Amino acid sequence: MSLLQTENLSYIYGEGTPFRVTALDNVNIEIEKGELVAVIGHTGSGKSTLMQQFNGLLKPTSGKVLLDGEDIHSSKTKTLETRFRVGLCFQYPEYQLFENTVYDDIAFGPKNMGLSKAEVDKRVRTAAKYVGIPEHAFETHPFDLSGGEKRRVAIAGVISMEPEILILDEPTSGLDPRGREQILSLIKNYREQTGKTVIIVSHSMDDVAKIATKVIVMNNAKVEMRGTVDNVFEKSDRLCEIGLSVPQITEVFVKLHAMGYPVSEKIYTTEQGFAEIKKLLKGGEALA
Ligand SMILES: Nc1ncnc2c1ncn2[C@@H]1O[C@H](COP(=O)(O)OP(=O)(O)OP(=O)(O)O)[C@@H](O)[C@H]1O
Ligand SMILES: [Mg+2]
Repeated sequence: MSLLQTENLSYIYGEGTPFRVTALDNVNIEIEKGELVAVIGHTGSGKSTLMQQFNGLLKPTSGKVLLDGEDIHSSKTKTLETRFRVGLCFQYPEYQLFENTVYDDIAFGPKNMGLSKAEVDKRVRTAAKYVGIPEHAFETHPFDLSGGEKRRVAIAGVISMEPEILILDEPTSGLDPRGREQILSLIKNYREQTGKTVIIVSHSMDDVAKIATKVIVMNNAKVEMRGTVDNVFEKSDRLCEIGLSVPQITEVFVKLHAMGYPVSEKIYTTEQGFAEIKKLLKGGEALA
């Protein structure tokens, strides 16, 4: 049994109105405990809608979302339990920071869970550590933080609820390269240290190649592909057809390969690229 699963899941916005939009069309996916799943797809392909289905914020038009094999809408209690077990950090979460201090923003979720003051405090400190927000910043007003810091505070606000599954919708979008790197490495560390399941939505193929254990590709409300990074990125032609691309480093190696250099085309990160070039140079081949 999978930890999180969808069964013939469909969702229509504005059902029964002239503005009806099918956002999810018969989606069947399984997510196992401990995976780091990246969901990719062009704008409007249904990614955010799927994330809101995962934690029960939206209810399927037809089909089911199962958590531990049980329909998350089987009862009100189950739906509420799902909201706590599946933590969702929305796209551009910094717009939802509304407390006067960083501490209060991170504490908001656990406080609402009815936890003791001591437990809330422990969780705030632990979550802040995961996202690299130092304790001396706790009294700062969130508005005084940089874009990347705000994003990390918002993520800490979800981590502090200690969800079993952490969902991050476009966690790096709109950030500068340094901000992106910080967020990616915090996600990686968080999963490695907690063993928890993480789902991220991303537009960046480079980010996906760096951290995902499994990739799900959405296209026009349907699942187009699923598999490991290798399985998905080797279908670069199809990815291009549906408005996606492969990582930049992959394009470089595909070209080198086409030029006759004995290099693999299956290079998805700069680390792999570096190792491949080193191998090539050791083999006595010169890159003219
Ligand atoms: N609240 C809404 N009301 C009506 N239609 C909506 C609503 N939210 C999303 N949609 C539509 O549903 C489809 C899927 O949207 P969704 O936001 O899930 O896509 P997405 O893959 O997350 O896109 P993006 O990459 O731009 O964030 C789109 O056609 C979108 O216009
Ligand atoms: Mg979205």
